[in-house]
Amino acid sequence: MREKYTQSELDKILLNTSQRLGWNFSSMKTWRAPVPWDFLKEVKKYLKPTMDVLDIGTGGGERFIQLSDIYKSGMGTDVDPAMIDIARKNAQAVDNVEFIVSSDKLTKIEKNFNIILDRHAPFDLTAIFNHLKPRGYFISQQVGEKNMLNIKKVLEQKYDIPIITKDEVQKSGLRIVTFQEYDVEYVVKDIESLIFWLKALDMLHADIATDKVIDNVEILNAILKGNVDKRGFVTNEHRYLVIAEK
Ligand SMILES: C[S@@+](CC[C@H](N)C(=O)[O-])C[C@H]1O[C@@H](n2cnc3c(N)ncnc32)[C@H](O)[C@@H]1O
Repeated sequence: MREKYTQSELDKILLNTSQRLGWNFSSMKTWRAPVPWDFLKEVKKYLKPTMDVLDIGTGGGERFIQLSDIYKSGMGTDVDPAMIDIARKNAQAVDNVEFIVSSDKLTKIEKNFNIILDRHAPFDLTAIFNHLKPRGYFISQQVGEKNMLNIKKVLEQKYDIPIITKDEVQKSGLRIVTFQEYDVEYVVKDIESLIFWLKALDMLHADIATDKVIDNVEILNAILKGNVDKRGFVTNEHRYLVIAEK
């Protein structure tokens, strides 16, 4: 990867870049420094075959469906009807999961759950508290405010307000079991993967709207400047893990 491209080189790459489908980034070539937890492994420590589980902001259900053989029933919600359509297609072979359109306020949901999951999506702690059964768990991984910091700086996006705090979790009435954070190096190995990624991130589905600017080579070059080494484009991955009990 280079630090500088021309507009016509970028246009050509964009022409050959596919659209993201659901929340699937598996085509990207990346490397990440070791991290202290794996979200799905953490969730599996709590799931039991008797449990009803809700996944808020499920996207295409890609990760929630992977857990379907270890809970009794699953409900995935997302504010975006297009995501729910994809999730239903992804879950065609699975009979204990349903997907419905709902915001994080969970206003249309009358059921209560043993576990509420939220990976990288908005959350309303009051709604979560009210939809948990007694002794139920809220398990969430959140994208930290300093995620992709060198890109946020180019786009002049704020990164100083924590996306989640211990204090707000405790104020909701939940008891914190785990509150962890990591911020590690994340490398995108080739320009095609980087363009796919930046094209796929919009404000409805992520905390950054690179889709709006990625066709402008000056912005791409500003993002690349000083951030390319022999491994590729180097940025960071900032995450929180929160596990809390009702
Ligand atoms: C970053 S994606 C994460 C998808 C999935 N949880 C995962 O980890 O693969 C965030 C998802 O949250 C959804 N979303 C955004 N705002 C929401 C809201 N207010 N309520 C519920 N879902 C929302 C988006 O449509 C998107 O599918």
